[in-house]
Amino acid sequence: MTNNINTTPVGLLAGKVILITGASRGIGAAAVRLFAAEGASVVLAARGTEALDRIADEIRETGGTADALALDLADPSSIRAVVGSVEKLHGRLDGAFNNGAAPQQQFGPADTTTDHDIDEQFTVNFRAHWIAMNAEAALMRSNGGGAIVNTSSIGSRRASPALPAYGAMKRALNSLTETAAVSWAAGGIRVNAITPGATATEMMDIWEEAAPGTLAATAASVPLGRLGEPREIAEVAAWLLSDRASYVTGAIVPVDGGAGA
Ligand SMILES: NC(=O)c1ccc[n+]([C@@H]2O[C@H](COP(=O)([O-])OP(=O)(O)OC[C@H]3O[C@@H](n4cnc5c(N)ncnc54)[C@H](OP(=O)(O)O)[C@@H]3O)[C@@H](O)[C@H]2O)c1
Repeated sequence: MTNNINTTPVGLLAGKVILITGASRGIGAAAVRLFAAEGASVVLAARGTEALDRIADEIRETGGTADALALDLADPSSIRAVVGSVEKLHGRLDGAFNNGAAPQQQFGPADTTTDHDIDEQFTVNFRAHWIAMNAEAALMRSNGGGAIVNTSSIGSRRASPALPAYGAMKRALNSLTETAAVSWAAGGIRVNAITPGATATEMMDIWEEAAPGTLAATAASVPLGRLGEPREIAEVAAWLLSDRASYVTGAIVPVDGGAGA
């Protein structure tokens, strides 16, 4: 029997150009560091350009390739401009991690959710990804294909009484992920999403501030007994963006310590 698995020790994402949104902190920043360590040229995007520049400098200091771009997910022209800048910088795009998102400002239930929260959740957490995915896919197609990973949430999988608008838009993102996967498969573009459970980032800190005790109660309810670390979420995105996941598309992958089981 022949073993056709290549055992050359190269990074999981070696040679790939990958765009990461929401790269200024949390899961996105962890993804930048991991993808670069796995050999990708990374393009970081968010509003917080100071943090982006700091992280990009850190990658370059260790010999990697990183560029930081200002992005406002609420502004369609800003999203298209970022993808245009990736084309100018690299001439291609192999992977996109659509990860940036706004927290819901006022916690539920649904009847107290403000119109502002509904609009912001739609604009930043859903419409932005729709626009980004189309721009990314167009650039990927011009070079034979690529892979897209969207960050959804465990809150998309079932009722989300504390974060009704957030949960609804994340579930809509799952639908768009599956639809794009089916539509774009023939063009060589794989599209998947991850649904992180509670993860130790500023987003959870905001929730803890609004409802003290949330962190401890959430950790206690997770079968693995703790919150996820940003790096643990990024690991799954890295695999989905890599050629090792070549037969995976249209999947909504839980990364939640068993919380959704
Ligand atoms: N933490 C959790 O427990 C958890 C659980 C499930 C899913 N998630 C999802 O995981 C992803 C990352 O969340 P996180 O926990 O890392 O959150 P975070 O620490 O709050 O980071 C959010 C990122 O999104 C960016 N962002 C927010 N609004 C933006 C806008 N209008 N334009 C451009 N960028 C914007 C932020 O950058 P700037 O502010 O610099 O723009 C930041 O880089 C999100 O999609 C979130 O919904 C998180």
